[in-house]
Amino acid sequence: MRWWDIETVVGIEAALFPDDPWTPEQFWGELAHVPDTRWYVVHDDGSGIAAYAGVFAIPPDADLQTIAVAPRAQGRGLGRELLAAAVAEARRRGCRQVMLEVAHDNETAIALYTRAGFESLGRRRDYYGPGRDALIMRLRLAGEAS
Ligand SMILES: CC(C)(COP(=O)(O)OP(=O)(O)OC[C@H]1O[C@@H](n2cnc3c(N)ncnc32)[C@H](O)[C@@H]1OP(=O)(O)O)[C@@H](O)C(=O)NCCC(=O)NCCS
Repeated sequence: MRWWDIETVVGIEAALFPDDPWTPEQFWGELAHVPDTRWYVVHDDGSGIAAYAGVFAIPPDADLQTIAVAPRAQGRGLGRELLAAAVAEARRRGCRQVMLEVAHDNETAIALYTRAGFESLGRRRDYYGPGRDALIMRLRLAGEAS
């Protein structure tokens, strides 16, 4: 993801997360840390940006900051591919675990993460606002002690 992608990404963000979309400033702030502690990627399907993901990595820990697939491109394996790429990047950087937060009722995303090997560590109450809990999930990467 480069700065000129932000306008399109923010448009997808608004469609997918109407309650709390990331602002352009948030994406600018994240990209300022690429490649030191961040990794951000977009997928172009020929009609423009169809998906994006971002990782925050300070070994041994990584966090999946964001992952999203535009409505027109969902259900075709793109989310799975981007998640695998994000995990591979965390591993490449020497991270031993990848953490993430997901809305407790986001069944599609939870299914995606569970199939990729993430396990739920618990629930954070009102994380996204009143009544909107987050599930904290973790993927342990090979080589981690206990
Ligand atoms: C969650 C999201 C990234 C998944 O991306 P996607 O490209 O649509 O998903 P994929 O086609 O790669 O499917 C991967 C897995 O997700 C799950 N999944 C996908 N669509 C699903 C649906 N409609 N219902 C339930 N599970 C679904 C399945 O486990 C699927 O694996 P399978 O095909 O082996 O069963 C995408 O739907 C999205 O951007 N949603 C809105 C934004 C969002 O919620 N982001 C995550 C915030 S934490």
